[in-house]
Amino acid sequence: MVLVLDFGSQYTRLIARRLRELRVFSLILPGQASLEEILKHKPQALILSGGPNSVFDPDAPRPDPRVLTLGLPTLGICYGMQLLAQELGGKVERAGRAEYGKALLTRYQGPLFKGLEGEVQVWMSHQDAVTELPPGWRVVAETEENPVAAMEAPDGKTFAVQFHPEVAHTPKGMQILENFLEIAGVKRDWTPEHVLESLVKEVRERVGEDRVLLAVSGGVDSSTLALLLAKAQVNHLAVFVDHGLLRLGEREEVEGALKALGVNLRVVDAKEHFLKALKGVEDPEEKRRIIGREFVEVFSQVAREAGPFRFLAQGTLYPDVIESAGEQGAAKIKSHHNVGGLPEDLKFELLEPFRLLFKDEVRELALLLGLPDPIRLRHPFPGPGLAVRILGEVTEEKLDILRRADDIFISLLREWGLYSQVAQALAVLTPVRSVGVAGDERKYGYVLALRAVTTEDFMTADWARLPLDFLDEAARRITRRVPEIGRVVYDLTSKPPATIEWE
Ligand code: XMP
Repeated sequence: MVLVLDFGSQYTRLIARRLRELRVFSLILPGQASLEEILKHKPQALILSGGPNSVFDPDAPRPDPRVLTLGLPTLGICYGMQLLAQELGGKVERAGRAEYGKALLTRYQGPLFKGLEGEVQVWMSHQDAVTELPPGWRVVAETEENPVAAMEAPDGKTFAVQFHPEVAHTPKGMQILENFLEIAGVKRDWTPEHVLESLVKEVRERVGEDRVLLAVSGGVDSSTLALLLAKAQVNHLAVFVDHGLLRLGEREEVEGALKALGVNLRVVDAKEHFLKALKGVEDPEEKRRIIGREFVEVFSQVAREAGPFRFLAQGTLYPDVIESAGEQGAAKIKSHHNVGGLPEDLKFELLEPFRLLFKDEVRELALLLGLPDPIRLRHPFPGPGLAVRILGEVTEEKLDILRRADDIFISLLREWGLYSQVAQALAVLTPVRSVGVAGDERKYGYVLALRAVTTEDFMTADWARLPLDFLDEAARRITRRVPEIGRVVYDLTSKPPATIEWE
């Protein structure tokens, strides 16, 4: 396994993900983690991330000095390179060598660049630069601006790069990371089969003869978790609450798929309950609060009736774990809802088998477990469902209109082979009604907004450049088949300043 020591770079998570893509188990620890904590994980190599600080800053985060003398193969990236240089007797200066954006390596050599040929474009983002190497080190890459773009230690196992090999703007970066792993002799056994096998074992051992309760939303994480419990053959009950805010055919699809694969699934029809609670409510946060509260109530009732359960399984992912550990106090933009806030009398132990996995890894497990592609590759869908895609009050009539329009948009994306090219696509029913003509008559119809975005992490997003012919067909089909809609618009706003959802 490889430990990534985090010094605050926005790319730290990406480094860990790239290593996983290369089939290496990796974890992120704070840059100042103690030697004991680091050794506990028995790492075969270390990566020191970039970070926003300058090594001259007296408060700049530094690793425990003993960490650098362990003899572990180490790769320093950006700030990580400057740390290595400074700590090991080299020199870092703010020498007017700042570089931002794309740069070309004018020279590169040595095992870190093995297999690379021709032009090597790299992504730079730094103000300080290494001006003197630690004793015995050698320069192994240069750019036009920077004579020390990469350096190699005399042991031939420790390297540092000023650029970011983990980002897509360094197209050959994966090869560089792979070379480092090979030099470090890191085992590459983190395959989906291996992960599945160890998760099945872990779940079986932890649960034993006890019972597990699970809420299934129809998304990939909770569906895969349900399949994992079925595969581990533990005594479980998966509860799917139909709150009436789902998309067309979603409930049937989830029910059919999971039951067929051995999940003990109970579908609770709570549509009327939710709609009644939402009556007259227009404020988005208020809608979220009500849906969260009603969900807990329905779920708790099932838990009491069918209980007792010792465990509550949740599809928590590694990014959530990192977030709650590290980025405390991050501004709360929207209150996202899960099964938190369960009443006192329902005490569970949490079972979170995916807490060290990234989303892509869960999708790989889902494939092994046989989850059908339409669910496995589904875009994220918010817990409060279509309620936050109907601006203003949610009514049965509006749900019906939005459901049909959304289905046309999403089906068409699939037909055109565009669905998997965007990270999320949605339709929003606005309360605006505009004038149109139908035959000789003027009529008022709702304005429907279509939105599709591309994003890596959903924290920032860009609007998707869907082909105009596609948008044309979507607008025609929707207005033809859903006569309540008079106008279709496409959302051209990125996040920020907008969010992905409209509410
Ligand atoms: P925003 O709109 O904040 O969305 O840019 C980012 C991602 O989060 C999803 N989202 C939610 N998911 N409950 C959820 O479970 C919510 O209340 C909620 N609000 C937004 C959104 O669909 C997108 O994927």
